[in-house]
Amino acid sequence: MNKFETSSYETIKSALVNRNLKQALYDKGKVIMDGVLLTLHGEEHRKRRKLEHRVFQRDFFKYYEKELFPRTLNETINPYLKNGRLDLLDFGYRITMNLTADFAGVDRVKKTPKETEDLLSLVKIFSQGATLVHSKRPHEDVNKEVIKALNEFETKFLAPSKNRRKNLIKRYKNNEIKKEQLPRDVLTVLLMNEDKIELNDELIRREIAFYLQAGSHSTANSMTHALHEIYKWSDNNPKGIKKIKNDPLFLQRCVHESMRLHPASPVAWRKSECPVNLEKNINMKKNDLIIMDLHEANQDKTIFGLDSHIFNPYREVPKNQFLWGLTFGIGLHMCFGRDLDGGLVPDEKTDPSNHQYGIVTLLVQKILNEGGYPDDKNKPETDLSTERSNWASYPIIFGDIK
Ligand code: HEM
Repeated sequence: MNKFETSSYETIKSALVNRNLKQALYDKGKVIMDGVLLTLHGEEHRKRRKLEHRVFQRDFFKYYEKELFPRTLNETINPYLKNGRLDLLDFGYRITMNLTADFAGVDRVKKTPKETEDLLSLVKIFSQGATLVHSKRPHEDVNKEVIKALNEFETKFLAPSKNRRKNLIKRYKNNEIKKEQLPRDVLTVLLMNEDKIELNDELIRREIAFYLQAGSHSTANSMTHALHEIYKWSDNNPKGIKKIKNDPLFLQRCVHESMRLHPASPVAWRKSECPVNLEKNINMKKNDLIIMDLHEANQDKTIFGLDSHIFNPYREVPKNQFLWGLTFGIGLHMCFGRDLDGGLVPDEKTDPSNHQYGIVTLLVQKILNEGGYPDDKNKPETDLSTERSNWASYPIIFGDIK
């Protein structure tokens, strides 16, 4: 097997839409990722994506952002505000746990902080299992923990969530309730299985576990990176923070710019199903591997300008490119949570009072509006257990940026 590497933006774009290149980043993380949407290929992937896409519709994202999310956000942040401090990672995971559990279809029956905490610790283990390829820990240890966590997840969370949905689906089929009264989440869609695709209980368990970790880890880290970039930038642009607070569209630009610099998955891997020629020097034979550096590609000077390595929320990009670059992927596996977390890109007709900003922007906005700023006495720490540039902790206190 030959291994190719590229950080060329255009080559990566063409690879991510190429149907002869198959997902390969999660081959080591099979215990949790085997058969889940992100690892599927060809017809099997198309069918599963079509089925689950029913949950990820724009009208629902807007409703979620405007109606449901603000309540969850206030409930989650209020105890921290009373304390006068929080850790961005801890808060980020807690809030996104609710978000991804809502979309995956995992009920939190007791609605206690302890229950969220329990789910969170399971999801953190799933996350380590999924990104095993970048883990610095012994892989066997991680896999053992994942198997144990999957079993615990089944008993504590998945079985009750499934039972409730199966009951509702039965009532719907008996014409006792309308379709709109069914929960709008991946688990319900899989249990209904209207397209009659091949599924089994183990697969559904891995799929739901995958959803929980795919959305929470990336959202929590994106929020933390964005705030970090904004704090650093404001040190040199004292008037900038006022603009950020008063202009939510500009704040959304800051978030997209930070997403460009810090893609949650810094690389994408694909294996060739047959000979594939991507560019002059990348001629892949069957089963060759290509490693694509999304982090580098997102700093391509020909697209993002000569200052592409720094945070510049005033950056202009060509009309056919997104400011966040390849952070949400493109093509066959493009992220289902893109518009939910990143929001929509505004244009000249956008009404700021009715715009869909995306969950990450809302989180950053809330922290800034509450006067959150870095705690000088407790410095942020990066996560040393992975090669990915994740945060381990980022303490902030509420007052106001000095
Ligand atoms: C800032 C937040 C997020 C980032 C940066 C992100 C990034 C990505 C990327 C790069 C991919 C494609 C990976 C590849 O091509 O190999 C992906 C796929 C995916 N993401 Fe996200 N994601 C985020 C949030 C979410 C959320 C909130 C959800 C769900 C609630 C979600 C669900 C998914 C799913 C289901 C896929 C697989 C799609 C497929 O394989 O067809 N993501 N994400």
